[in-house]
Order: sequence, then C-alpha cells, then structure tokens
Amino acid sequence: MTPPSRLAVLISGGGTNLQAIIDAASRGEIPVEVVSVISDQPEAYGLRRAEKAGIATRILSARGYADRDVYDRALGAILDEIDPDLVALAGFMRILTGPLVQRWRGRMLNVHPSLLPGYRGLHTHRRVLEAGESLHGTSIHFVTAELDGGPVIAQARLKIRPGDTEDSLNRRIQALEHRMYPAVLGWLARGRVRMVGDHVEIDGRLLEGPLVRDEEEWLRSSEA
Ligand code: GAR
Repeated sequence: MTPPSRLAVLISGGGTNLQAIIDAASRGEIPVEVVSVISDQPEAYGLRRAEKAGIATRILSARGYADRDVYDRALGAILDEIDPDLVALAGFMRILTGPLVQRWRGRMLNVHPSLLPGYRGLHTHRRVLEAGESLHGTSIHFVTAELDGGPVIAQARLKIRPGDTEDSLNRRIQALEHRMYPAVLGWLARGRVRMVGDHVEIDGRLLEGPLVRDEEEWLRSSEA
C-alpha cells in the first residue's frame, strides 16, 4: 500500500473541490492526507469545511503585504513549515510568483475551469458563452510560472447546451472537478503521474496531450 502523501490545499472560497478531496481521502480512495488548508480569504467557507474535518487551517490575507513577492515569500515560509509532499490549488485566486512555483515544481497542481490552453484567467464561463463556443471544460495542470500555463494532466470536456448560463456551466464544471481532481491527486500520490521537463508522464509514458474525458465518462467513473 502507498503511504499517504501529505497534502496542503490552498483556497480562496467555497472549497467544494477541497471537500471532494477530503471525502475521497477519508473514504480511502486516494493515498492522500490533507494536512493543512491555507486561505488568503479569512471568510472563505472552505476554512469551515477544513475545521469540520479536523484539518489545521492557516489564513494569509494579502493585506499588509507590500507586493506579490513579499506575500509569496510568507506563503512559501508557511509551506516550508508544513512541509507537505504535495500542494493543491483549489480555487486559490492568486497568481504565484516564480521562486515559490519553482520550489514546488512537479508537486503543485491547479484546477482551472477551461479547456487549456484556451481561456486562461478569470470569468471563463462568461467568456466561453460570449464567444459562442460549443465545448467547454476544466483542466488539472502542474503549476509553472506561466499563469494557467503548466503542463496539463487531465481535462473534463462538456458540450454547451442551449440555455446554459454561467451558473449552469459552473455547476456542471464543478461536478466534473469533484471527480477529476481527487483522481489526479491519487495518480500523483501513487507516483503514476510525474512532470518530466515540461511534459507529463503517466505510467512511464510521455503524454502528447492531456487525458481528455467527456462529461458522461467522468460522471460514470469511480476511479480515483
Ligand atoms: C473551481 O471551479 C475552480 O475551477 C476555479 O474556482 C472554483 C473554486 O471552487 N478556479 C479558478 O478559477 C482558478 N483560476 P471551490 O472553492 O468550490 O472548489
């Protein structure tokens, strides 16, 4: 059996992805132990989720930090103190700078609600609808210094339906993230997935592109 990887999760908001990770770990589906939850937002509901699960929390508000570099040094010091094996950004709405990202290279994942490399940045559901796209989705990728630009491991893809709104897309996307994020963390914790240079290796094979599954497939999957 793989000993659990100690995971720190960074959040800014509701923490539904955090909850999915906590639940998958506590059901024993993935060899992961969430050891700390860090939020830049003192009111983030995800902090309550962590407390309910008995997980230590830290708040690092950006207030009082002169700039991004100073903030990231403080965040880096907290992470060094916690010393997790892996770090998951789960709705953490800050851009991280080079040295911190470099320190965690290959061990830090992010979930971004678009089919990367399309629609980096904010308000992806709105922008996808405005552009009249027929497909949308969400991606799990290794974090690099380029915003939403690191190698993508897996994607969940959905067909936009007539009548979809930002809210409905958000609900559909999050349901997929709740399957996909724990699953990918499980692969990383088991050593099945690695970052090699700027590429992703899965089970010893370099990926030419992300593993893409459609909505129905992720919803059917019980894999973690
Ligand atoms: C998630 O849907 C994630 O894709 C998005 O924030 C949401 C957080 O939800 N992330 C980004 O937009 C990152 N740029 P949660 O707090 O309920 O997990």
